Amino acid sequence: MKPMTPRQIVRELDKYIVGQEAAKKSVAIAMRNRWRRLQVPDHLREEIMPNNIILIGSTGVGKTEIARRLAMLADAPFVKVEASKFTEVGYVGRDVESIIRDLTEVAVSMVRHEKEAEVEAKALELADDRLLDILFPLDDQPVVVHDGGGSGEDEELRARHQRTRDKLRKRLQAGEFEDRLVEIKTHSDVSPMMQVMGPFGMDDVAINIQEMLGNMLPKKSRSQKTTVEEARKILAAEEAGKIIDMDEVIRDALNRVEEMGIVFIDELDKIAGERASSGPDVSREGVQRDILPIIEGCNVVTKYGVVQTDHVLFIAAGAFHVSKPSDLIPELQGRFPIRVEMDDLTEKDFVKILIHPRNALIKQYEALLATEGVRLSFDKQAIKEIARVAFQVNESNENIGARRLHTILTTLLEDILFEQPEGSNKEIAITPAMVRTRVASIASDPDLSRYIL
Ligand SMILES: Nc1ncnc2c1ncn2[C@@H]1O[C@H](COP(=O)(O)OP(=O)(O)OP(=O)(O)O)[C@@H](O)[C@H]1O
Ligand SMILES: [Mg+2]
Repeated sequence: MKPMTPRQIVRELDKYIVGQEAAKKSVAIAMRNRWRRLQVPDHLREEIMPNNIILIGSTGVGKTEIARRLAMLADAPFVKVEASKFTEVGYVGRDVESIIRDLTEVAVSMVRHEKEAEVEAKALELADDRLLDILFPLDDQPVVVHDGGGSGEDEELRARHQRTRDKLRKRLQAGEFEDRLVEIKTHSDVSPMMQVMGPFGMDDVAINIQEMLGNMLPKKSRSQKTTVEEARKILAAEEAGKIIDMDEVIRDALNRVEEMGIVFIDELDKIAGERASSGPDVSREGVQRDILPIIEGCNVVTKYGVVQTDHVLFIAAGAFHVSKPSDLIPELQGRFPIRVEMDDLTEKDFVKILIHPRNALIKQYEALLATEGVRLSFDKQAIKEIARVAFQVNESNENIGARRLHTILTTLLEDILFEQPEGSNKEIAITPAMVRTRVASIASDPDLSRYIL
């Protein structure tokens, strides 16, 4: 594993997220600190607790986006959950321990994929062996007659078999039989196809039932007809499964969750209500109380074993418009020592967001229209105009941050997207005048813009 330095992490995030330097910096430090901690001598390592972070910022400024990109970078088990999805134990909804179970699930499949990559060459070879047996069954080849005679003949026959097989293998590997149909038999677990629902809010009961059934039911063998190309993938996966030591995978995975796991809790503000004494709000504080032990560090039972959560890193995010971080229960506040305020996006940021990110909206629309043979281009001034309108609408209506750019662009491009591919104009340049006629006029009418933009 090659851990990224904080600067490298920020540089990667920069490819997708405009501005928000403070937030990028603190998540980068937190990520690197995981690795640093692992290099520290044993007795101190246990003492170093993760510095959990709360990202605070209005809607549409990139909180979730940072988490999504971080997840892709993190060479560590990572899950993103919405705080509002959870309920107190005993209520309908997911219980908070399922966060850690999901994280473990992620880690297990992560480690398994790594191991699969390690044994891939071997598994492919074994798959080819099985394919050869199916394509050219041995009994089709001359039978070895034991007449008690010279074993030299036997030897020779075997050598000839081997030569034929080697030749066939070469041709198989060269891809000569890829389209041939073969019938393969695979042994599969039946349980993955079956979803066992436990009593409400008790995910672990469901898991146990599933485990039990999975072990009791016989492995089902299934035959199917497919092309050699497909069959090789299926057989290689099965062979890899035989080589890989699942116990080791699970040990590695549990260790990785405990030492490097990252949980992103989105919409934390949604469970930070004022302390209402009745009504649906009672459960908000309940959820906070349920989450607390996991963040403080406790043991969670998963189907792979017990996971200790002391060193899992938690990054939370929320708009905190109505409620404030100080509305969280004090114990929970203390568990998030780092608070980062995200900046509101400016008109200049909007211009950059339209152009620079790898997934910039303008790039997306250009690519979409290119499929119809249309070359869409945006005049520099037009982009500025779009940003200006977006900013203005955010000011006059609700501020929804960069999400406003989506609504503006869809309105602006609606006719063009509808006209194609029949439209004759295959070179479309968006000019400031077009932006003004198509959206600025709507934007300046508060009644209209409320509904359309
Ligand atoms: N700083 C930014 N740079 C690039 N794109 C951004 C930025 N901020 C927001 N966006 C774009 O706006 C969209 C919404 O952003 P995001 O989902 O991160 O909002 P959020 O901060 O999580 O808001 P909410 O509080 O409503 O969940 C994203 O899909 C992203 O494309
Ligand atoms: Mg969000």
